Amino acid sequence: MGTNDIFILAIESSCDETSAAVIADGKVLNNIVATQSVHEKYGGVVPELASRAHQENLVPVVQEAIVSSGISKDRLSAVAFTRGPGLMGSLLVGVSFAKALAYAQNIPLIEVNHMNAHILAHFIEEPRPEFPFICLTVSGGHTQLVLVKDHLDMKVIGETQDDAVGEAFDKTAKLLGLPYPGGPLIDKYAREGDPKSFQFPITRMPELNYSFSGIKTAVLYFLRDKLKENPGFIDENLADLCASIQYSLVEMLLIKLKAAVKKYGVKEVAIAGGVSANTGLRDALTQLAEKKGWNLYIPKFEYCTDNAAMIAMAAHYKYLKGEFSSMDVTPLAKMKI
Ligand code: KG4
Ligand code: ZN
Repeated sequence: MGTNDIFILAIESSCDETSAAVIADGKVLNNIVATQSVHEKYGGVVPELASRAHQENLVPVVQEAIVSSGISKDRLSAVAFTRGPGLMGSLLVGVSFAKALAYAQNIPLIEVNHMNAHILAHFIEEPRPEFPFICLTVSGGHTQLVLVKDHLDMKVIGETQDDAVGEAFDKTAKLLGLPYPGGPLIDKYAREGDPKSFQFPITRMPELNYSFSGIKTAVLYFLRDKLKENPGFIDENLADLCASIQYSLVEMLLIKLKAAVKKYGVKEVAIAGGVSANTGLRDALTQLAEKKGWNLYIPKFEYCTDNAAMIAMAAHYKYLKGEFSSMDVTPLAKMKI
């Protein structure tokens, strides 16, 4: 590595993962993630506990990223952070830390949009999608269809009008008595079940938009009736229930993705975000891509869930364009791509 290389330290603290990564000339050197287990017993992320855990975890996580990169903090070219969207208290911890470090080292600050970064996770490793491509970003907080024209030129072409798809996975899992986060457990049990056993609604919203709140209510009433007849209903049918719920959620995702691809006439298709770990979605998408002749891109699991490597990747492109933030930048709970 030469003396003129671009070294960026990136911090992610928008929800319940505290993460730091170092990137050297666009190559991610590490990606340290501390997952907060404190939320499990509450059945969801508790904002107050999340910001407190970020405060405890951030310094050791950053320290580990810097030490394992082998680069002294005096050689950093910039420090990047997630400005939003996310939980205000959680974001504040990352923003304050990044500002202090930028001030102490006298280096620029780079703000990153978390949703933009989820998509740029595709540029961490080969194969990288070609522009323009369509990305379906599916996480616990968001469900968006994005037309990606360049690294920093993206347009939301459709999104959920209520719950995110990850939320729908987690909330229906909770109704089945599964612990938080239930998405990965629905995925696991669904593998043994028949997706056609039960029929849950497939909501069709206008244009390229989504709605995932209906399925939660449908599952609630369905279970209430079944449990009245047979209190053992969930235990006896868990795999089939999971497979049927997952089937409806994946169908809803794919219907709009197909419509988006048709509307914009692109063959490059990507998915991003925590729910892209779902095997049902991956399998259905892989089959669909083969049938339609799409080039499909699915990031490695560690880059699907919240991580600082994707923030670092976004920061690298912003650095090249000289897009820096001022020292009075504040976090944004809601932030558009
Ligand atoms: O992107 P992410 O790590 O955090 C957010 O920014 O929200 O996504 C977390 C979401 C949770 O709702 C979790 O249940 C879901 O991703 N998830 C899954 C799977 N793995 C994670 N949902 C379904 N199947 C999975 N295998
Ligand atoms: Zn995320």
